[in-house]
Amino acid sequence: MRILAIETSCDETAVAVVEASGGMKRPQFRILSNVVASQIKIHAKWGGVVPNLAKREHQQNLPIVLNKALKEARLLKITKRIPNINLIAVTVGPGLEPALWVGINFAHDLNKVWDKPVIGVNHMEGHIWSFLLSQKTEKPKLQITNYKLLFPALALLVSGGHTELVLIKDWLKYKIIGQTRDDATGEAFDKVAKMLGLPYPGGPQIAACAAQISKSKFLISKQIPNFKFQIKLPRPMINSKNYDFSFSGLKTAVLYLLRDIEAGKFGFRKIPFNDCLKRSQLPIPLVAEICKEFQQAVIDVLISKTIKAAKHYKVKTIIIGGGVAANKELRKQFKQKISDVALTSDSKYKYDLLDLLLPDMNFTTDNAAMIAAAAYFSALKRKFRDTKKLKANGNLSFSTKQ
Ligand code: KG4
Ligand code: ZN
Repeated sequence: MRILAIETSCDETAVAVVEASGGMKRPQFRILSNVVASQIKIHAKWGGVVPNLAKREHQQNLPIVLNKALKEARLLKITKRIPNINLIAVTVGPGLEPALWVGINFAHDLNKVWDKPVIGVNHMEGHIWSFLLSQKTEKPKLQITNYKLLFPALALLVSGGHTELVLIKDWLKYKIIGQTRDDATGEAFDKVAKMLGLPYPGGPQIAACAAQISKSKFLISKQIPNFKFQIKLPRPMINSKNYDFSFSGLKTAVLYLLRDIEAGKFGFRKIPFNDCLKRSQLPIPLVAEICKEFQQAVIDVLISKTIKAAKHYKVKTIIIGGGVAANKELRKQFKQKISDVALTSDSKYKYDLLDLLLPDMNFTTDNAAMIAAAAYFSALKRKFRDTKKLKANGNLSFSTKQ
């Protein structure tokens, strides 16, 4: 099945052409093209995504991105006629509604011209299956030859708009067992970065800054000989009995910490800053220390809650998806934790079966190839809808009827 997928839910205009085969028992995806036009530079000026700007950019970029994707997939020669695809997939939610409508209307127009069926896709479902994608097409990404070794699976979805733990008992059987009560993980990264005067999007910035820590420690010991700056940020809800998350308190803790530093509480000379942008004038080692502790607090909570849920639901695999899955420290520590857990003997639950499925780095943030992958599974179950009835739903959830 050859799928042309469109993704416009946030600030990436993306089109991909993906060849899917193998059915539900052995799904394989060959990526013929995967074009992403990022609007990050445009939104960075405003410190976050501006919905109407995103809409305008999608409208301008979509025809260009489509052309590029068809060209790369070597389907351009036949655009005047009908390209050799079987299905058009488009993200219908969750996301920014004005942005989602651009993709949906575009898919609708293509349907009229090409007479190909259109399928609406949940963006978060795309993030779940992104671990199946690989730019190298020779080998199928899923090494699990028997899908019975995949389910029940637990997906930790961590993006700019969502933080969810999704239990997947079988194909297309999703149940949210935990989610954030306030900020999403990526959103917390972005907001803390802003407080520190780091540019949007904050996740990669904080990760890079935290990675500088040993170099920073060396620098600070030279700058401030008796430097003692040990901070401990909270790990919100880490011991709560449910699988929910909360990140806004952590963000506020960073804000209070910055105020204390500003007031000279840590022995630094009073740093004269009044607004957040000026905070970039904080000494680099200090920023690195804050970034590292903030990142570690987030990682501790994510890993602890996910492992707890994995044990409770006796899952066979843990899937991670969403932009924050690009965080190298999160990936490293998750891998370590899973192998530690596998070594622990427990008569009730065989941890050695627990497998960690991570997306390749280039499929963590928003792209259309993941939308094609999710569309494939829905298409196999023939979950089609009349194109005219496709609607953008900014708050689309796994429990919403699509
Ligand atoms: O999934 P995504 O591309 O878009 C949404 O669906 O929201 O996720 C974007 C989010 C942003 O908040 C960004 O700061 C975060 O993912 N992100 C990261 C990293 N790379 C992107 N967060 C932490 N560490 C990273 N390396
Ligand atoms: Zn996303």
